[in-house]
Amino acid sequence: MTQPAAVSPASGEKRRIGACFAAAAASYDHAAALQREIGLALLDELSGHVTMPPNGRCLDLGCGTGFILDQLAARGVAADHLFGADLAMPMLEQGRRRRPGARWLCADAERLPFNDRSFELIISNLPVQWLDGLERFLAEAARTLRPGGWLAFTTLGTRTLAEFERLCRDAAQPSRVNRFITKDKLKACLEHAPLRLEAQRRSRHVRRYPGAWALMRELKQLGAHHLAYPTHPHLHARAAGLGGRSRLVALERLAGLRYPEGVPASYDTHFIILRKPD
Ligand SMILES: C[S@@+](CC[C@H](N)C(=O)[O-])C[C@H]1O[C@@H](n2cnc3c(N)ncnc32)[C@H](O)[C@@H]1O
Repeated sequence: MTQPAAVSPASGEKRRIGACFAAAAASYDHAAALQREIGLALLDELSGHVTMPPNGRCLDLGCGTGFILDQLAARGVAADHLFGADLAMPMLEQGRRRRPGARWLCADAERLPFNDRSFELIISNLPVQWLDGLERFLAEAARTLRPGGWLAFTTLGTRTLAEFERLCRDAAQPSRVNRFITKDKLKACLEHAPLRLEAQRRSRHVRRYPGAWALMRELKQLGAHHLAYPTHPHLHARAAGLGGRSRLVALERLAGLRYPEGVPASYDTHFIILRKPD
């Protein structure tokens, strides 16, 4: 077996993303209803292609606290076939407490510490939008899957949190929500991937919040506040010094006027299933 590809150390941006998720590990499960809903939909989609339990080792990549591993165990995958990998150690510690029989590793999805052909199935629910790019993730999945193995992942599209981004713009509140993959870029990556595309769909999941702050609070509880500029603790402090507090109040007022029935947060989700050729 060849060794995992050696690549450069994690970027500063990646360290910051890991730190946000690490800080959110204790609150993540409480806030992650939508992530669970999307994860279950991915597993449903996958069950149309793969017989459960798959006949080999399964990796949950960007596993967080291990919701997907719980689901795989419930579908009959043996504990010693379950692997969880995540950038944030405190997320893994939560997972290990819940399921000590599985193996939990701190790893970057773009440079996996596994040998070639290690897994029958890799599932990755919603970490992909945090990566530097999709190409390296697909190459690493292809390398570590056995021939005939499956990769199932979800990632967010460009319409994600579009309402919130518009609100921020109209309230002159800095935001950098929109860092999601375009459909053309996704198509190009999938066409050039060393894996065969078996299924792909896109769907919109919407949740409503009493106000913009409530939405930002939940993003923080999830560790996703690196997305939402106003809630990042350092940036927030800096923004507050520049009159940021009054801008946040303006944002909340605008949210109440525009969405009296609650601020919508759309999650534009791509579901992708690929297979490594035999
Ligand atoms: C939105 S959470 C999803 C967690 C889990 N898959 C679920 O369904 O609840 C995203 C997870 O991806 C992890 N993550 C982000 N970038 C990563 C990377 N480069 N490599 C591995 N994990 C990463 C985060 O630490 C976080 O736990």
